[in-house]
Amino acid sequence: MQKYFIVTYGCQMNVHESEKLAGMLVNIGYSEAKCAEEADVVLFNTCCIRDTAEKRAYGNIGALKSLKKQKPDLVIAVVGCMTQQKGGAAALSAKFPFVDIILGTHNIDELPVILQEKRAKKRVISINDDPSPAINDEIPIHRTSGTNAWINIMYGCNNFCTYCIVPYVRGRERSRKMEEILADVKQVLSEGYKEITLLGQNVDSYGSDLKDGTSFALLLKEISLIEGKFRVRFMTSHPKDFSKDVVDVIARSSNICHNIHLPIQSGSNDVLKKMNRKYTAEQYLEIVRYIKEKMPDVGITSDIMIGFPGETEKDFEETCEIVKQVRFSNAFTFVYSPRNGTPAAKMEQISPDVKKSRITRLVKLQNSITKELSKEYLGKEFEILVEDVNPKYEGTVCGRTDSGRLVTVKGDQSLIGSFQRVLITESKSASLFGNLIQTKEEK
Ligand code: 5AD
Ligand code: SF4
Repeated sequence: MQKYFIVTYGCQMNVHESEKLAGMLVNIGYSEAKCAEEADVVLFNTCCIRDTAEKRAYGNIGALKSLKKQKPDLVIAVVGCMTQQKGGAAALSAKFPFVDIILGTHNIDELPVILQEKRAKKRVISINDDPSPAINDEIPIHRTSGTNAWINIMYGCNNFCTYCIVPYVRGRERSRKMEEILADVKQVLSEGYKEITLLGQNVDSYGSDLKDGTSFALLLKEISLIEGKFRVRFMTSHPKDFSKDVVDVIARSSNICHNIHLPIQSGSNDVLKKMNRKYTAEQYLEIVRYIKEKMPDVGITSDIMIGFPGETEKDFEETCEIVKQVRFSNAFTFVYSPRNGTPAAKMEQISPDVKKSRITRLVKLQNSITKELSKEYLGKEFEILVEDVNPKYEGTVCGRTDSGRLVTVKGDQSLIGSFQRVLITESKSASLFGNLIQTKEEK
């Protein structure tokens, strides 16, 4: 039997896309290899959102040159965002002559045919430049993410934030039909998944391209009406589109998690304007106020970027100020890196030393907030969905609260996939520790 090995870079959307790549390979008789050395096909599912992800992929692809020399029949494929950038496929092709297949983001469904025909051809480069290709809902999915099932609700992005490459490599917003999504939700629940994460670059504008009145609030409402004990999460939201209707639906439903990922990027109105984010710090704070009013137990997480071109010390201080006001339960903090072809790449850049100092200060600030918020969990009871064993501590498992905080408790594999009530007894920075107070699964 032929074997595949997939290396994934970047966000959850790529993780899910790798499940689709795997699904197509399993469908034509492949099984998963434990490592590249044991595989007949190695796929690199790349990301180009930041310099770091791109560099890692370049390094790892380059490292396969010697394996290819030893095993000339090995098929090496590069897929994902790096291939879809302007000039990306040509650059990859020139740098890695030993790569057999380069496939764009809009036509991954060609993979099985290309692989089956491969032996007749020398090298296949296939990129579809149409920014609005039709959605293929038929791609099989080989799920690998434990108790959670990812479901795409839309593809692409229309926002063109000036720092971001995503709209160029993922095309325009295309929403899946609501019936298809609801059918997928029911399907994964019938397969035993207990958590569903809805995916899109900008989930709040879900449905606007369908022009039939469909909205994200409506989709969430329909999902929340489905029977059974399960949880729903979603990402990513955009503050300019995040509606109070969505907050109301979440607050009223029992299965949509009180956990909202709402990237702020910056707390400075000048920087937000240059980023083309289309909201102000004050508007962001108003959304947060409304969310917290309706859901006092909410966990709000964010993406925060420092070092955008022209960011002054005052701009940076404004970012720190809003971080202190909102008190994010956690945040992904990024150093801006110029992306070729985006407007911000042509703006005047700020020095690496300034970026380094700012990211260090921001991370320290956010860590102290996360630590303080962790203490607020002490002595309280929560429900967690047990996701996995915690390999750091023998004889323990871990799972998330509704608000998205990871809790470790004593227990074994048999608990995975069950909902458990826990009492929080200890907190260490972002991690919480507790005791099970009820071991029976709640149905
Ligand atoms: N440099 C650094 N971070 C970036 N992001 C997007 N583009 C860039 C870039 N050029 C971050 C944003 C976004 C997250 C997914 O990645 O914060 O929300
Ligand atoms: Fe990039 Fe902005 Fe679209 Fe998010 S909303 S994917 S940051 S362009």
